[in-house]
Amino acid sequence: MELADLRTLSMFETHAQAILPPDVWAFAYGGSSSEATLERNRHALQHLAIEQRVLMNVRNVDTTAQFLDLTLASPLIVAPMGGMYRFHPDGDVEMARGATRSGGMSVVSGVAGWPLEEIGTAASGPLMFQLYWLGDRDWVAEKLQHVVAGGFKAFCLTVDTAAYSRRDRDIMLRTPGQRRGGPVPAPELRDTQSGLSWDDVDWVRTQIPLPFGLKGILTAADARLAIQHGVDFIWVSNHGGRQLDDGRATIDALSEIVEAVQGRVPIIVDSGFRRGTDAIKALALGATLVAYGRAPLWGLACGGADGVLSVLRLLNDELVIGMKLAGRTVARSLQADMIRRVDVSGFAGPAPVTQLSPAQQEVVRAVTRDPALSEVEKMWGITEALFGADVQQGERR
Ligand code: FNR
Repeated sequence: MELADLRTLSMFETHAQAILPPDVWAFAYGGSSSEATLERNRHALQHLAIEQRVLMNVRNVDTTAQFLDLTLASPLIVAPMGGMYRFHPDGDVEMARGATRSGGMSVVSGVAGWPLEEIGTAASGPLMFQLYWLGDRDWVAEKLQHVVAGGFKAFCLTVDTAAYSRRDRDIMLRTPGQRRGGPVPAPELRDTQSGLSWDDVDWVRTQIPLPFGLKGILTAADARLAIQHGVDFIWVSNHGGRQLDDGRATIDALSEIVEAVQGRVPIIVDSGFRRGTDAIKALALGATLVAYGRAPLWGLACGGADGVLSVLRLLNDELVIGMKLAGRTVARSLQADMIRRVDVSGFAGPAPVTQLSPAQQEVVRAVTRDPALSEVEKMWGITEALFGADVQQGERR
């Protein structure tokens, strides 16, 4: 299947699953142990509905975001992910290339498999670096020199990895000796993350003159401490449900953190965000930027940088369409009162993926590539191809 044939977010996910080896899919898709945190992220988002206002003249929508001294065209960014070489031969480089073309920002994993300078050169927009503390202070200081040389705009320390969680899907399918992530330091230095404390935050803060934040904050208490220790931003994350099992959903923790932070520093949030409307909820509740992990990863697997860009475009389209239909025009001014807590019994679940026969796929391909057809005509061409030419004109709404 070619990239142009992947027209919805669920098609990207389904195709990525079909082409990736099962162990690679499991490594990315799964969460820790019982996967309660993974599921809770999605359920908590589904418990929130967006209030619909009409007749608000929403012709022009402004999605720009202000993060530190960066003005981004989009508040949607890509979260750091290790092991990208397993999803594309030029993993981290292609991810940075595609993500920075979308108008947002990309965050490069501390265990990226390519030299940071090479990733920096591929990017056409701002990059942040994510640090895992995988050695002694000399190791960290040396790593950070490469961050400066790579032209990164900011860096964050991931702090929700005091232990490496047990990820059951991954464990079940892993073959002995398989390597995870990029180059790592000597074995005796790998457990240094469990010994980290706020003193280390103070120290790392002094190492390079770049804006610095903590990724993996989930309580108001830790957000307050982070600000006392001089962070420039806070990243609300549970690692996409991959670390603490049976933890809270990030969207549930967001409001109390926003209240504790009182606008003193910007807030990034991630974990469980799959659609553009999910970002509307987070922005309205006070996030400055919303990071996506697995969604752009499926794009990378399906089509490298172009696949990442396609997924981010779909997410950004959904953000804009969702804002228009909710009667809002400025993404950075969305307010919490547009979000309502709702009962989710009867929720339809993820969007269905239609399995097309080869003949139907052929028709869809022909229709979508016909330059003479408008977007609406293409949509109806596809509908007729799938459900028969007897779709009545009157049903077209
Ligand atoms: C991650 N995540 C992660 N986080 C981090 O700080 N450093 C890393 O190297 C990685 N590696 C990684 C690999 C893979 C395959 C995944 C899926 C995730 C967590 C990531 O930054 C982010 O917090 C979550 O992925 C966000 O959740 P969603 O959008 O994937 O649900």
